[in-house]
Amino acid sequence: MIILGIETSCDETATAVVKDGREVLSNVVASQIILHRKTGGVVPEVAAREHSVKIVPVINEALKKAKAKLAQIDAIAVTKGPGLQTSLLVGTNAAQTLALVLKKPLIPVNHIEGHMYANWLKADARLRQAQPDRMPDFPIAVLTASGGHNELILWKDHGRYQFLGSTLDDAAGEAFDKVARLLGLSYPGGPAIEQMAKKGRHEKYLLPIPLLKPWNPKNGKPLNFNFSFSGIKTAVLYFLRDFHKNFPGEKITKQTKADLAASFQYSVCEVLSEKLVLAAKKYRVKEIHLAGGVSANDYLLKLVQEKIEALGLRGIPLRYPPLSLCTDNAAMIAIAGYHQFKKHPERYRRWKPVIPSPNLPIKNW
Ligand code: KG4
Ligand code: ZN
Repeated sequence: MIILGIETSCDETATAVVKDGREVLSNVVASQIILHRKTGGVVPEVAAREHSVKIVPVINEALKKAKAKLAQIDAIAVTKGPGLQTSLLVGTNAAQTLALVLKKPLIPVNHIEGHMYANWLKADARLRQAQPDRMPDFPIAVLTASGGHNELILWKDHGRYQFLGSTLDDAAGEAFDKVARLLGLSYPGGPAIEQMAKKGRHEKYLLPIPLLKPWNPKNGKPLNFNFSFSGIKTAVLYFLRDFHKNFPGEKITKQTKADLAASFQYSVCEVLSEKLVLAAKKYRVKEIHLAGGVSANDYLLKLVQEKIEALGLRGIPLRYPPLSLCTDNAAMIAIAGYHQFKKHPERYRRWKPVIPSPNLPIKNW
């Protein structure tokens, strides 16, 4: 089954052609990063206008790269939400029109579930790790960490979720982006902080590690698997504001910023990795997955791997997407759409409109 995926939830106009939910025949992303660097973040109207310019060319490019004709497409999967309303509209309108004209099933996909399905593609030599060439096994503990969402989920089967925790305020990626601005780094902040932190020592400055302890030390009972990242952003702001008072005679140098970046990255990745691996142990999962833009961070990966060892979970496979599928892309949307269609083909037989939903929750299906 060949699915055309379309993703326009934020600032990437993305299309992909995926075979049988496993084999990525093409994956095209028209990035708007340079455009949004000027404003230090995404301006929704600007993003939507750019999607309108790019959507048809990137659909054509994905088909061309996959050596596929429109007539060979069996279904169209499109991001319904969460995301920016005006950005989502461009992708859903293109997908609805194609499905109507071609008389093919139209599968609306939740963007966060899309990120989770980025770990379901076929093993490939270009991956960041040697992945077993078999489908993942349920139940899975999955951490999704992006610019707009941050969830810890016990994934029991296709369309069956138990929500263990989520962020109470900012998502991890959002914190990376905001702290990068404070450090004078460009958008998007995650990769910039990761690079800068390589030259720093995280022990130099201690920042708070928010909601680190998921266990009550008195009775060993679980507290929660939630996250909170807005306080640490404020801690960085105050650190810079009060620097001269706290370190009289010292200057904020490149090294100061590198140490601060390392310290911030440590705090965020420590709590993300700790809760993910504790959840994996508690719920006796068969696999541990990382998903979303922040899963591109190698330091996060290293901490998760260390904690898997430390908690004696070495036999449990850890999967994370190749770099090209960590951040927003349409291959993950096509893969998610494939599994939805396979489980409930009857739901997609008749054309129904796909209305964008900026706060679309994840639901069982
Ligand atoms: O999944 P994504 O492309 O978009 C959303 O769904 O939000 O994630 C983008 C987020 C940004 O906040 C970006 O700073 C972060 O992922 N990110 C990273 C890294 N690469 C991207 N954060 C930390 N380390 C990275 N290497
Ligand atoms: Zn995303």
